[in-house]
Amino acid sequence: RVLILDFGSQYTQLIARRVRENGVYCEILPYDCEPQRLQAFNPVGVILSGGPESVTADDAPLIPAPIFDLEVPILGICYGMQALSAQLGGRVEPAQSKEFGYAQVCIRGHSRLLSNIEDHADAEGYAWLDVWMSHGDRVTEPPAGFKTIATTPTSPVAGIGDDERGWYGLQFHPEVTHTPQGARILARFVRDICGCPGDWTASNIIEDSVARIRQQVGTKRVVLGLSGGVDSSVTAALLHRAIGDQLTCVFVDNGLLRLGEAEQVVATFDRHMGVNVLHIDAAERFLDALRGVEDPEEKRRIIGRLFVEVFDEQAAKLDDVAFLAQGTIYPDVVESADSSGGKAHVIKSHHNVGGLPDYMQLELVEPLRELFKDEVRRIGLELGLPADMIHRHPFPGPGLGVRILGEVRKEYADLLRRADAIFIQELRQAGWYERTSQAFAVFLPVRSVGVTGDGRRYEHVVALRAVETVDFMTARWAHLPYDFLDHVSRRIINEIEGISRVVYDISGKPPATIEWE
Ligand code: XMP
Repeated sequence: RVLILDFGSQYTQLIARRVRENGVYCEILPYDCEPQRLQAFNPVGVILSGGPESVTADDAPLIPAPIFDLEVPILGICYGMQALSAQLGGRVEPAQSKEFGYAQVCIRGHSRLLSNIEDHADAEGYAWLDVWMSHGDRVTEPPAGFKTIATTPTSPVAGIGDDERGWYGLQFHPEVTHTPQGARILARFVRDICGCPGDWTASNIIEDSVARIRQQVGTKRVVLGLSGGVDSSVTAALLHRAIGDQLTCVFVDNGLLRLGEAEQVVATFDRHMGVNVLHIDAAERFLDALRGVEDPEEKRRIIGRLFVEVFDEQAAKLDDVAFLAQGTIYPDVVESADSSGGKAHVIKSHHNVGGLPDYMQLELVEPLRELFKDEVRRIGLELGLPADMIHRHPFPGPGLGVRILGEVRKEYADLLRRADAIFIQELRQAGWYERTSQAFAVFLPVRSVGVTGDGRRYEHVVALRAVETVDFMTARWAHLPYDFLDHVSRRIINEIEGISRVVYDISGKPPATIEWE
């Protein structure tokens, strides 16, 4: 397994993903974590991430000494290379001009890291790479024992290497897709230089998790809040594989789910896989509590609080439960451990499966804690969950509660569910579902005049929203074909009495958000 030491780069998680794509397990630890944690991790190789600081500053973050004592291969990227150089006796200086974006580097001499990897060769036979740069400092003299293995016109030392120790530094970012050969370079490092076998595959991950769950849980009972989303579904399937009937899932139907969603969850888990599922129909309770409430944050709080209440009531009825399972995944863990304090402002208060009353004293089981979303999806498929459940667009915890603007009413939710189902069905049929990251309908409680045949209609409006995004932090509205929108709009207005107008949302994020509330 490979250790990624994080110096605060925005790309650190990408490094981890690229490493895992090579079938190599890795974890990210902050550069200033306790030395015992580094030793206990016992890596076969270390990658030093980039970072926003300058090594020429007095209080620059340092590579902890135990890293060098491990005597394993090291790859420093950007800040990681500069720190490596500075600490091993090379020279690092502030560059006259900072370098951001596309650049070309020329490969020099032979090195185990870069040889025979190239984008193109020049007339003199030198190999060149197209790369992504983002740095202020530059190395001007490699440390003793290192050769220069790559150069650019502005950074004569853009890559350094010591083949004997397997220690390397790269000024550019191999982890981003803008460096086309980056994945090969990282594969070279983790597979060939560190010697990792690449056996971190879906079935090995499952086998490993099953063993660990059994060891942690023993013969005790586990309760899980199942939402039907990817993370909680895969957690349920994994726990079921590990401990069978010792698992009980609580599925709370809050009346704000998509069309047919509750039936699908129950059918998949209860009937098909034989998982114990308590299906709690709490729709009325949620709708009662939401009556007259218009403020989005207040609605979120009510839905979140009620969920915890209902879940707790059910969990308390179960005998000798000792564990609460949660579908926490790796990005959640890394984000909440962010020591820089630079966490994004809370624009909307998202809620997850929440706390239990203290008297229950449950220990947590979080079998997906070390996995990225794509790994979670892969093991979900391997565990036999239906592909459309695994590849479903994300759905917010408060559900249709934040897609019905203002007061939530049952009749609005019923109309919205049908409109949403038509939109999604058509997206799937047209091949657009996979090409959008999230798509849904929003209910606007205003009325607008329409006409059908000889009659006048004075009914509600539905907005369609479809976005493309990688991280859900920024998004662009999907440029769906006009003919497609036309078809969906006609279907919704013709088939659903109560909706007389359909509009398409063409706002990006920022400045808008993905959800309307
Ligand atoms: P926004 O609307 O903030 O949404 O651009 C970003 C992503 O987060 C989802 N979202 C939520 N998820 N509870 C959740 O579990 C919430 O309260 C919530 N609000 C937004 C949204 O669907 C999108 O994927």
